[in-house]
Amino acid sequence: MLDVTELIYDDHALLRRRFAAFDDAQGDEQLTVLWEELAVLLDAHAACEEEVFYPALLKKATEDGEDEAEDAIEDHNKIRDAIKEAARHPVGSKPWWDAVGEARTENSDHIAEEEREALPDFRKHASLETRAELAVAWTKWRTAHFRPNHVSTANKKPETYIEANS
Ligand SMILES: [Fe+2]
Ligand SMILES: [Fe+2]
Repeated sequence: MLDVTELIYDDHALLRRRFAAFDDAQGDEQLTVLWEELAVLLDAHAACEEEVFYPALLKKATEDGEDEAEDAIEDHNKIRDAIKEAARHPVGSKPWWDAVGEARTENSDHIAEEEREALPDFRKHASLETRAELAVAWTKWRTAHFRPNHVSTANKKPETYIEANS
């Protein structure tokens, strides 16, 4: 049976590996290709969680769920900011590496936190049926949006998001 939390763990593993690929990259052309793809994955992963996963977590109505959603939106905003910062600089330049490094740090801190808090919380509180239904929704949304210019990269206000999705 498909389970949305497993699909999120899979995406996290993919994001970690794609960042690791930068350690072996040779030359700006390779860096450009790697970064273009990774920036799309990062933005789409955050948007997919905001669209499919966090609304379901919030509707489980645990107090922790609200804190977890708030932390997630704040972290997603930091990752989006780092991606936008990287776009302002030539690939391979010092400020570009700084921004990519910032995205890597924010992303690894964030996904570790999700794996410690939001995902276990959801596995404890949601039924297997809900987890399976969300896996289908996740896959549909992911298929439609994991490509360039298919998600909004605008930052969100945590309070507004929680209110709209609870
Ligand atoms: Fe996230
Ligand atoms: Fe995530």
